[in-house]
Amino acid sequence: MEKTAEYIKEHTNCFEPEIGIILGSGLGELADEYCSYALSYSDIPNFSKSTVKGHKGRLVFAQINGKKVVMMQGRNHFYEGHSMKDITFPVKVLKALGVKTLILTNAAGAVNESFRPADLMIITDHINFMGSNPLIGENDDTMGERFPDMSEVYKKHLINMAQECSEKIGADIQKGVYWANSGPSYETPAEISMIRKLGADAVGMSTVPEAIVANYCGMDVLGISCITNSASSSSGEKLSHEEVIVNANIAKTKFKNLILEILKNL
Ligand code: HPA
Repeated sequence: MEKTAEYIKEHTNCFEPEIGIILGSGLGELADEYCSYALSYSDIPNFSKSTVKGHKGRLVFAQINGKKVVMMQGRNHFYEGHSMKDITFPVKVLKALGVKTLILTNAAGAVNESFRPADLMIITDHINFMGSNPLIGENDDTMGERFPDMSEVYKKHLINMAQECSEKIGADIQKGVYWANSGPSYETPAEISMIRKLGADAVGMSTVPEAIVANYCGMDVLGISCITNSASSSSGEKLSHEEVIVNANIAKTKFKNLILEILKNL
């Protein structure tokens, strides 16, 4: 951790970000537009144990609307075979760099039948169905408690502020519970029916490990899902990754404007 943080400080002129943003599938544009320093994950010691050759992932530092921000353009996923510890290590690094508020974004399937592709959803809470937890193992008491409270992972004041921001920019917004599966297979119709009955509004394969660790080490979390598809239904429609990317692209301007407005208000 020390080596990682030291390398980053050295290569960013000791830029001290107060806000972190993890950019989900198809939502990375913000980091192309605003960029003071960019470091490839592969160049940062211990940062990302990617097994994929030519893996595109960058840590991007920028001043946006007066705020010092660090963005993760790309994240590792549990379904790629990385451990929970490895996929959440970057969150601990952001904490060490001084980040106090973490904005987590993702692409997700709609479980709530009133949601439409390209809608945005503010995450009010989550259900961890990944079958693991990033805090399993020896606890580092300097970072957080052994049994951390999870009663308000997604901070109410941030949820309300994000909702006001969406009204200000004239974008409709949904609110709801995010359900995390390990993936990589999408859900069956029976699984979606179960997820709906158990109280979730959207389903995805990320975010929850990062949210658990950020909450554990005392960061305020805001989560935003881009609804990219109706999750599997019994109507027989097939779901592809291409559909997910197409709808993330349709939503990306709205998403970017919302993040910019949120940064003004943080
Ligand atoms: N299910 C799980 N993960 C997803 C989906 C989905 O329907 N869409 C985007 N990520």
